[in-house]
Amino acid sequence: MKSLFDQTPFAGIKMKNRFFRSATYDGLADERGHMTEELFQAYENLAEGGVGTIITGLTSVTDIEQSIPRQMAIYDDSFINEYKKLTEMSHRYKANIILQIVCLGSQTSNGKVMWGPSSVEDLGYKTTPDEMTPQQILLVQTAFANAALRAKQARFDGVQMHVAHGYLLSKFLTPYYNHRTDGFGGSIENRARMVVETYIAIREKVGPDYPVLIKINSEDFMDQGMTFEECKYVCQKLVELGVNAIEVSGGSFSSRRNEGPSRIIKSEQESYFKPYAAEIAQEINVPVILVGGNRDFELMTEILNQTQIEYFALSRPLIRESNLINRWQSGDLDRAKCISCSKCFGSRNGTSCVINRPKNVDPV
Ligand SMILES: Cc1cc2nc3c(=O)[nH]c(=O)nc-3n(C[C@H](O)[C@H](O)[C@H](O)COP(=O)(O)O)c2cc1C
Repeated sequence: MKSLFDQTPFAGIKMKNRFFRSATYDGLADERGHMTEELFQAYENLAEGGVGTIITGLTSVTDIEQSIPRQMAIYDDSFINEYKKLTEMSHRYKANIILQIVCLGSQTSNGKVMWGPSSVEDLGYKTTPDEMTPQQILLVQTAFANAALRAKQARFDGVQMHVAHGYLLSKFLTPYYNHRTDGFGGSIENRARMVVETYIAIREKVGPDYPVLIKINSEDFMDQGMTFEECKYVCQKLVELGVNAIEVSGGSFSSRRNEGPSRIIKSEQESYFKPYAAEIAQEINVPVILVGGNRDFELMTEILNQTQIEYFALSRPLIRESNLINRWQSGDLDRAKCISCSKCFGSRNGTSCVINRPKNVDPV
């Protein structure tokens, strides 16, 4: 029987358990995306709390679009040395750390540039991007590749391409947002081209052995969204090209109510992307990471043993309890205390749990 605390090899890295902290924006970098003491501290708390692999919050590969307030960045070489401190700290706790790299596209406020596959208003952000020219597409692909190389130089254990949740790469896959008539629009083969070429550019820079992961939507959960069949096509294509693992999520700010990535759930709705992740894991031969509503140790153990899903990623539960994995390892298997209210989003002065804030009484 497999256990969540199995030590497994994963794309050439050693995992001390099967838990990931899924990428979580924390609003703790400085205004130019650089490291701060608070950011370092937040990651030290996570590493100390026992999670096997930390995926950082979404990190900008360029500085020519407007970042989300106090978002992490890696748009030039000045970041390499400061991130080395982060990776060294994490490795001291035997936690792997993977950098999530992103281009925001229309999911940001108006800045110097706002890019999209087509000039279609973002249903969530109400912003309208410019349709990218072939030169801008190349610029973004190169920025992803350079960012990945810097991540490698800063000793991150890998990079994760953010192809989910309606950010730029994800938007190319979505028919509602991609009306292009050139080689980047139309059929799923064409809509996937931005993601595929970006992956190839990254792989060329980091070499064949460096872990490159993707986080992708199972479905967009909106009218004219990417379908699950199309998602599986993209996964298959990337696996053929050497991608090392797939984290299966879904939805975006454009999705139907409560069908986005971070859902408000009741206990019977836990691990809500399981049917999708299980099917992908059955069909492809790289590790699949299930994210979204993982709260119950026993349910995850069951999924681990009844499907080909091998890893579990958690976001909100570790905002509530950064030591959750150590707690479970110590034998206290009570479910995560997170109540999935999602009020940790958009809180001022960084992401934090509203229940943990001093004036609240813990209702659980
Ligand atoms: C405050 C907050 C910030 C998030 N930031 C990111 C991010 O930077 N990148 C990303 O891929 N997902 C992000 N997510 C989504 C989570 O990684 C995860 O997919 C989702 O919350 C479902 O997992 P959970 O039920 O364990 O929270 C964020 C979620 C929250 C609550």
